[in-house]
Amino acid sequence: MSIKVLIGTQWGDEGKGKVTDLLAEKSDVVIRYQGGNNAGHTLVVNGEVFKLHLIPSGILYNNILCIIGNGVVIDPEILLQEMDGLTERGISVANLRISGHAHVILPFHRMLDHLQEEGRSQDNKIGTTSRGIGPAYTDKISRTGVRMVDLLNEGKLTNRIKEKKWGETLGVTEQQVQAVIQDLLKFGEKLKPYIVDSVSLIHKLRKEGKEIFLEGAQGTMLDVDFGTYPFVTSSNPTAGGACTGSGIGPTMIDDVIGVVKAYTTRVGEGPFPTELKDDTGEFLRKNGQEFGTTTGRARRCGWLDLVVLKYSANVNSLTSIALTKSDVLSGLKELKICKAYKIDEQIVTDFPSDREMLERAVPVYDTFKGWNEDISGCKKYSELPLNARKYIEAIEKEMEVPINIVSVGSGRERTIIR
Ligand code: GDP
Ligand code: IMO
Ligand code: MG
Repeated sequence: MSIKVLIGTQWGDEGKGKVTDLLAEKSDVVIRYQGGNNAGHTLVVNGEVFKLHLIPSGILYNNILCIIGNGVVIDPEILLQEMDGLTERGISVANLRISGHAHVILPFHRMLDHLQEEGRSQDNKIGTTSRGIGPAYTDKISRTGVRMVDLLNEGKLTNRIKEKKWGETLGVTEQQVQAVIQDLLKFGEKLKPYIVDSVSLIHKLRKEGKEIFLEGAQGTMLDVDFGTYPFVTSSNPTAGGACTGSGIGPTMIDDVIGVVKAYTTRVGEGPFPTELKDDTGEFLRKNGQEFGTTTGRARRCGWLDLVVLKYSANVNSLTSIALTKSDVLSGLKELKICKAYKIDEQIVTDFPSDREMLERAVPVYDTFKGWNEDISGCKKYSELPLNARKYIEAIEKEMEVPINIVSVGSGRERTIIR
């Protein structure tokens, strides 16, 4: 029996879906523990592409129990659409379970997300996915939220929603509020067979010796506590979030796997010291197909940043790394890795918590020789070109965490296990 946590080490979209799908094969249970449908996890199996937003990336195996944990915020309409989409493609969702304590994203949260973003000054825009994530978590923390179990209780649901006085906040009419309540009750009816007491279930499975895999969404630098605040999401994508979002205590966790993209991307606003606004940035975007899985927005691209990655190794207590997308770097003459920032003539190696300092950070780079070979067909580590191995080993050495998996393509089979 083991419990593993997988997290994103950068600003999301590191390839968590691909690695979870790969490692899920040896798991009995896959649990999503935070975030919502702001996430977009891509799985490619036998050439078929699946984009998951809420359902754990273990769903393609018919023998894995997939649990949406208490720490996730759920838009029930979107969840039902995702379930129907999979069913239509012949993927059963019978093994899905939903925590009754997960909070609900209401249509009002989506409206509020949009309005808040519009109201921010140009300097403070976050570039959210406008899925209602921030407002839903705000209500959870304010203790005014609606939980999945509430969708099964008309009286309670009506009270919770009416107490929020959405008419005053958003100018919606009484009829609109009533219509939302009726829709939510219908969604609740459809989701009822899947809603469970997830904490009891998880510990029952743990005691039976099941292999449990916790799938994070977003990434460390989007964490509300550890990320580039305020340009972050409203949850804890870091390893600690796996505990609070599932009900598994820290002493039960055996491994924390960090997914590292071989370069850096960010979608949305906020500081990004190694961003490349030149042809190399364009090369990475084009070659890596760096367009958002959820919103389709072009991702900002840049060199790998060890200041970020070392910080990420610390705040997540990483035990191993899965390195993705090194195949995208093929064809670049030179590669750069940022090992420090220069801020006001000072060399800084600890990630600065101060937003203004970070905005003044100038990356200090080490330069590596590139390689031309297409590496997407490599099956063994020794088949990789020497310069690719040198690049990978430099990351490993600096992060002081073993790179056990090297992903060289989006397909499940395009993977080197070291
Ligand atoms: P996630 O949010 O962390 O699950 O990542 P996304 O799915 O949003 O974005 C990662 C993208 O890279 C997806 O399109 C994946 O199919 C793709 N991908 C994952 N690993 C690799 C890899 O090793 N090489 C290449 N070329 N693509 C990859
Ligand atoms: P996955 O799981 C990349 C970003 C948004 C925005 C910020 C806040 O696919 O890696 P939110 O809607 O959460 O309030 O937006 O966070 N963001 C992501 N960026 N990958 C994600 O998820 C993201 N989820 C949110 O672009 O900058
Ligand atoms: Mg994604």
